[in-house]
Amino acid sequence: MLPTIERQGDTVVMVDQRKLPGQEIYVRCRTAQEVAKAIRTMVIRGAPAIGVAAAMGIALGMGRSTAKGTRQFAVDFQKICDLMAGTRPTAVNLFWAIDRMKRVFADAAQAGASTAEIAARLDREAQAIHDEDVASCRAMGGHGAEMVPDGARVLTHCNAGALATAGYGSALGVVRAAVEQGKSIAVFADETRPFLQGARLTAWELVRDGINTTVITESMAGPLMRAGEIDLVVVGADRIAANGDTANKIGTYTVAVLAHEHRIPFYVAAPLSTIDLATPEGDRIPIEERDQREVSHLGSSRLTPEGAKIRNPAFDITPHRYITGIITERGIFRPPYVESLREAFAGVSARA
Ligand code: MRU
Repeated sequence: MLPTIERQGDTVVMVDQRKLPGQEIYVRCRTAQEVAKAIRTMVIRGAPAIGVAAAMGIALGMGRSTAKGTRQFAVDFQKICDLMAGTRPTAVNLFWAIDRMKRVFADAAQAGASTAEIAARLDREAQAIHDEDVASCRAMGGHGAEMVPDGARVLTHCNAGALATAGYGSALGVVRAAVEQGKSIAVFADETRPFLQGARLTAWELVRDGINTTVITESMAGPLMRAGEIDLVVVGADRIAANGDTANKIGTYTVAVLAHEHRIPFYVAAPLSTIDLATPEGDRIPIEERDQREVSHLGSSRLTPEGAKIRNPAFDITPHRYITGIITERGIFRPPYVESLREAFAGVSARA
């Protein structure tokens, strides 16, 4: 399986997603600050992978803490959690993972554990978050593959694959599971301006797995749907509000409206850690505005004239009415989402 992120001794190692597919380079982070920088600068990206990275970064940072007593240790911990929380605002998995780490810290401190014991527990929790994410992706794949007929031509946007998770992928996990069931699947990958996650990362992952892949620019999705060349859309999510409204990579909303117009099923595949019951609707989800340079430049080449204004919101909101179903590790949830998503958490603690 593709190694997105791994703990190796006193380092966290991740494949540099800015360099793919041209170069497969691994970045070795030695401090929590280096992990935070890797998240901010998109060395690692994708909502579940960001959550795993933050958890591993916190564990790494606390393992290196020089605090003499638990009081100073708690101060260091809070600083590192704040650092991670400031990296990217939209993917709720980041805050979900930080909350999990905070609960482990509080429980251990409450039980009178030593700083070394607390650090060991944080390490174990970060690894558990990683391993559970892979298991969730596989379960999502199993549920979602039932929705993918043999011979399906599947459109996806951005990269919701192994690289965006701890492994296997959410939307691409659905594709992988369908292929593993022996189905013949063709994937159309939107290139996904401006960071090109579709053209670079989704295509790289799928070609590596021998899955039939065609890269298209976003503007080609509508005409292909109209020509009857797309059967199904599956995308990932950065945050799903309690009513099912979904934040995902900018351009997802346009794809959803097009799918609705052409009566093509539009599925969102995401683990429960992406569902934020504490946010009632999509308009309340913070949307990250990234550096203008991602739009104005391609590498070091300027594309736009000096003086032209640039906007770069990294995500958009797809209203729940365009979403056929939300595929999770606990099954596929359908409208009305206010009820079904609440039921999805039966017996599980939610961010509510
Ligand atoms: O800016 P990115 O690359 O982190 O955005 C990623 C996406 O929008 C993904 O579709 C989403 O995080 C789901 S990943 C399983």
